Amino acid sequence: MITDKTKQLLSDHVDMRLVAVEGDEPTADRNSIVQLDPDHPGFRDQEYRQRRNQIAQLALAYQPGQIIPDAPYTSDEHGVWQAIWTALRPAQQQHACAEYISALTRLSFASDRIPQLREVNEKVIAISGFRLEPVAGLVQPRVFLENLADGVFLCTQYIRHHSTPLYTPEPDVVHEIVGHGVTLASPRLAELNRLFGKAVRRTKSTDALEKLSRLYWFTIEVGVLREDGMVKAFGTGLLSSAGELEEMHDAELRPLDVEAATSQDYDPTHFQPVLFCADSFDAMYQSLREYLAHW
Ligand SMILES: [Fe+2]
Repeated sequence: MITDKTKQLLSDHVDMRLVAVEGDEPTADRNSIVQLDPDHPGFRDQEYRQRRNQIAQLALAYQPGQIIPDAPYTSDEHGVWQAIWTALRPAQQQHACAEYISALTRLSFASDRIPQLREVNEKVIAISGFRLEPVAGLVQPRVFLENLADGVFLCTQYIRHHSTPLYTPEPDVVHEIVGHGVTLASPRLAELNRLFGKAVRRTKSTDALEKLSRLYWFTIEVGVLREDGMVKAFGTGLLSSAGELEEMHDAELRPLDVEAATSQDYDPTHFQPVLFCADSFDAMYQSLREYLAHW
């Protein structure tokens, strides 16, 4: 039965970035601002909308290489981080793969305030050479993925509305930092992100771009693997959501077959009924690396 609580957790992580391959425009603007839908939790909160615009302006004015300006989060918003962190930490300790846990230790987040991109960026650059760059809203899949080739992760900076700490209809700073930021502090996961970007750059057709987007989804976003006989997450979408980390054990697990993953459809707005599970971190790393390098 789907209770209200389950419903909330259900959409805890939604990354629509990779879905809209259709209409892929090479000239897509990396700073196209997201309009809030009438059913967005923050739609009627003028203060929240104003802050979202202010944060979007920071991104619009940002020039690559500059220090990322701090976002003006409120104490309610720091409270959102605290609520998420309280739910997420135990879930991660139980369900995250070792590679993630050790990268997380390197970033050492405070439990009571949202880390600024600036702080996360300094550490990630030092570890893997990857850097975060703020964007005003969601960008086209091709733009998002191609930037990875240059070691650039285009990153939203706003946080979800404080009325729904466990629900966000779009990737927010929590997903970006706790999911992607941490995995980019793993040199091997950072390398796979770069290889995805380079493969996308060599890809011309929309069909082929869709295949790569699906593979990115089933690995970097919702990938799982076996560790000491247990199923553990290495996917950023799972790792940034306590609800997803619990639910992943109910998914149908298929052995990781990168070719099969490129043609598996998915719906990012629900828990994943099918996940691809690698035999180990090394096996995942090797097969993905090989596949992307020869793409
Ligand atoms: Fe994501």
